Amino acid sequence: MSVINLAPELNNLKTTSLYRELVSITPIGPTRGYLNGREVTLFCTNNYLGLTHHPQVSEASIKATERYGTGAGASRLISGHSHLYEELEAALARHKGTEKALVFSSGYAANIGVISALMGRDDLVFCDRLAHASLIDACIMSRAKLCRFGHNDVNSLGDLLHAQKTKGQRLIVTEGVFSMDGDIAPLRQLADISSQHGCLLLVDDAHGTGVMGEKGQGAAAYLGVSKGIDIHVGTLSKAIAAVGGFVAGSSDLISYLINKARPFIYTTALPPGVVAAATAALKLIETEPSLLEGLRANVRYMRGTLTSAGFDLMGSETPIIPILVGEAKKAVAISRSLLEKAGIYLPAIRPPTVPAGQARLRLTVSAAHQQAELENAAGSLIELGKKEGIID
Ligand SMILES: Cc1ncc(COP(=O)(O)O)c(C=O)c1O
Repeated sequence: MSVINLAPELNNLKTTSLYRELVSITPIGPTRGYLNGREVTLFCTNNYLGLTHHPQVSEASIKATERYGTGAGASRLISGHSHLYEELEAALARHKGTEKALVFSSGYAANIGVISALMGRDDLVFCDRLAHASLIDACIMSRAKLCRFGHNDVNSLGDLLHAQKTKGQRLIVTEGVFSMDGDIAPLRQLADISSQHGCLLLVDDAHGTGVMGEKGQGAAAYLGVSKGIDIHVGTLSKAIAAVGGFVAGSSDLISYLINKARPFIYTTALPPGVVAAATAALKLIETEPSLLEGLRANVRYMRGTLTSAGFDLMGSETPIIPILVGEAKKAVAISRSLLEKAGIYLPAIRPPTVPAGQARLRLTVSAAHQQAELENAAGSLIELGKKEGIID
C-alpha cells in the first residue's frame, strides 16, 4: 500500500495560521454554549432570529418525531415524501412569491442540484467573484464555462456578457446577502442586465431569507425585485433554524429539478422533525414582527458602536458584520483574546474562505442577543482593536 505524506501541507497550514480544527460547543441557548466547561456567548452563528430554541419550533419537531419517526427511511421519490414536505414547500413558495418550491437536504445540495441540472458543457455561468463555495462548486460540476465578474460590479458583468458568446444558455449567479461581507447584491441592476441579455438569474439568499424584507422574504423582496429573479435559492439552516436547502421558482423549474437534480434524487429525505421545525419557524417569521424588529435593533446598536469606534465593517448592511483585520495571524490573536478575556466566541475567518490579506472577524448579530452581551462584545472588540492597532 502506498502512503501519502500529508504532514508537509498540514505543517504549512499551521505555520501560516491557516490550520483549521474542530471546536466542541455544547449549546445551551441560541446565543450561548459551553466551551471547555466554560459558558461563552456566540457571535458567529447564522441563527439570526434565535429560533433554534423557540418553544413552538421545538414542539413541532418533537411532535413530528414522535408521530412519524426519527428518519424518512428513503429518498423523496421513493417513500420519503410526505404531507410535511408539501406543507413546507407550499409555505416557502408563498414566502418567496413563486409558483413552487423544492426542498433539498442542504443549501449546498440545492446549489449543486439546480446549477448542474440546468447547465451543461455548451453553457456559460457568470458568477460574482465572492460567491459562496457551494455556488462555485456547482458551476464547476455543471461543466459549463465559469466566468467570474467583480464583486457586485454590474459593469464588469456587462463587459463579460459582451465578450463571452455561446449558442447555449447563460446563467448569472449571485448571493442576495453575501455570507462573508454582509453586503447586498445590486439585484435590480442584475435583473435588468439579465433580461437585456436573455440570461437566467439565480440568487442564493441563504443569509437574506428570514432576515431582509418586511416579513423576512429576503433581499429580492427588500429591494422590490422578486419577480425579476428566475431562480431563488435559500437554506433552512440559518434564520429558519433547522437544516436543508430549497429552490423556489416556476412550476416547470421545480418539475424539471424533481426529474433531473441528482442531489435531490439520489439522497434520503430529511427527517420529519426537521421538516416540521422549518415550517414552524417560517410561520413565526411571517407572523411575529417582534423577531425582526429585535434583530434590527441589535444590528443597529452593534454596527453603530463599531463604526463610531473606527472599525472597517466592509460596507455591511445586514446582521453579518465583518470586522476587517487583514493579517490572518492578527485575526486569530484577537479571536483568542476575546474568548480568554471576555468569554466571547468569534472565530477568525481566513483564506481560502476570504481573499488573502482580508482575514476578518465575521461577527453575526441575533435577535436573541441580550443588550449586556452586545455591550460586552462591542467593548471588548474596541479594547482589543486598539491594542492590536486595528483602530486608534
Ligand atoms: C451563500 C450560501 N449558500 C449556501 C450555503 C450552504 O447552505 P447549507 O449550510 O444549508 O448547506 C451557505 C452556508 O453555509 C451560504 O452561506
